[in-house]
This record gives sequence, C-alpha cells and structure tokens, in this order.
Amino acid sequence: MTRQGWTVTSPLESERFAWLDTISAPVQKGWHALFRANQGTMLAKNALNGVPWRHRVHPAIIILPLGAWTTAALLDTLDGFASRNGESQYRASADAAVAFGLVSAVPAVLSGWADWVDQYGHQRRVGMAHALTNITAIALYAASMGLRVRGMERRRTARALAGLGYAIVGAGGVLGGEMVYNLGVNIPHVLYPKAPVKWADVLGSNELPEGTPVVVDFERVPVLLLRHEGSIYAVESWCPHAGGPLNEGTFEGCIVECPWHQSRFDLRDGHPVQGPAATLLRTFEVREAGGRISVKPSFEAADWPPAPAPPAEHPALAPQ
Ligand code: FES
Repeated sequence: MTRQGWTVTSPLESERFAWLDTISAPVQKGWHALFRANQGTMLAKNALNGVPWRHRVHPAIIILPLGAWTTAALLDTLDGFASRNGESQYRASADAAVAFGLVSAVPAVLSGWADWVDQYGHQRRVGMAHALTNITAIALYAASMGLRVRGMERRRTARALAGLGYAIVGAGGVLGGEMVYNLGVNIPHVLYPKAPVKWADVLGSNELPEGTPVVVDFERVPVLLLRHEGSIYAVESWCPHAGGPLNEGTFEGCIVECPWHQSRFDLRDGHPVQGPAATLLRTFEVREAGGRISVKPSFEAADWPPAPAPPAEHPALAPQ
C-alpha cells in the first residue's frame, strides 16, 4: 500500500487536536450568521474575499502587519543596543511600527475569517490553528503596546513581548502557507479533478511489467503505476508544481523526475526529494488479485483536499 508522506500540518490530524473542531463549529456558525445578516454584510464579505477585485484580499493585506512588525523587530533590536548607552533614537519609530501593525491587523484578520468561514474538514481545523496562533501574536503585540505607552520602566518586557509575538506570527504564516500549498484552500480546484474514494479495477497484472511505468485514467485523474521490486506504487501523474506529466519523466528505482522543471518525487509516499515542487504527490492504495490491479485514493489523499460535504451537511447550508 502506498502511504501519503508527512507535511507540517499532519500532526493536526491527530485526535488530540479534535478540540479545534469543537471550537470551530460555534465560531463558524457565528461568522455565518454575521456575514449573512443582511445585504450590507454580504457585500462586506464579498469585499473581504476579494470578489470585486478578482483577487484574494487576505494574502495581499497581511503584508501590512507583517511588514510593520518586521520593521518593529529591527528597530527594537537597534533600540536594545542603543539603550545601553542612554537615549535611543529608535524607540518612537519602533512604537509606531507596532501600533501600525495592530491597526492593519484588523482588516487582515477580518479577511482571514471571511475566507475560513467556508472551510470544512482538515482545512477548517488547520485554519482555526492558524487563527488562534495569530490571535495570540496580536494579543502579545497589544500587551507590548500597552507597556510602551506607559513609559520607560517596562521597555525590556515590551520588546520581549513583541519579539515573542513576531515568532508566533511566523508560525501562523507557516500554517497559512500550508493551507494554500498543501491543503489547496482557495486554489482553482476545477483544474485538477479528484478521484472518487472507491476501489477501481484499472489494469491487468500482465500489463504492468517490472520497472515500466503505465498511466491509467481513473475518472479523469491520470494515475501513474509502477511495479518495482515486487511492489506496485500508484500516484497522480500530475506534477504538483505546475501539472507536468510525470509519466513522461525519467525513472530511477522509486524516484521519478518531472520532465518540465526536474522536480523529483519518491513514489512510495509521494514526498518531494528535489524542487522546485515542495508539496506531495497524491498517492493511491493498490490491490492486486486474480490477475487484476485495483487502486483507491489513500486515506490521506481522500482527505486532501477533503471531499466536499453534501449540501445538507455543509455548515454554511445547514438548517439553522
Ligand atoms: S511541472 Fe514538474 S517540476 Fe514543474
């Protein structure tokens, strides 16, 4: 059986993090009620999603607080050194950068909730972790700002709180990036159909000789099969970097090299071993019996991106 490889958000799939779903359900309901309250709030959500501009607002607007807090981190560091010799000329600018970050975080946060409110499954859970991480960072910056306006005595603590906030907002950024690049949040899914989660008889055993890759069509998804040292591996034949045809690539044992930009992947679990691709190939479980080969999306592939919930179960459409 081919298992999907590890990603940064894999630990969040564990039952230990089910509490994120418990929090997500009422929060999601609350945001839905707010965004759907009237025509005006619907228009506001449209704007926060980026509909009028045909471009997502969230990834564009987060550069404001991130840029401000990066500036603050630099100025705080210079302030720390300069303060040893008395008065520092960096202090007022550092405070202004922290303050600007806090103000610009408001539209960044709102656009994030507007995007998250329509997520479900693992994407919703990772999105909640991303939100909680960033809220923690904002709280630290707010506390830092409070100390800054109160004067000099707490300056060191104020800088430390901002530094901690900066590290945490970085972790939030990693989760946000994972949501897009690995979990496929808000990418145009129409480009890449997903195979249904079921076993499909795709090939005769005698049609897959050792070491010769074969591509089969599984309901519009090209599945690349390779028999290697007694095992059969199956992955999507689209390269996750830009959709290159992996079946036309070069093979070396269980490693395939994409013919377009030379990304290399391990077919055993789909993990990238050479860029530019940095995300996993979707993998398939393989069964061989009675001279026939069947495949089915592996558990992780079936949940990545998750299959859409039927409308009646979708939180956005569930009866109130
Ligand atoms: S499409 Fe495969 S490496 Fe770019």
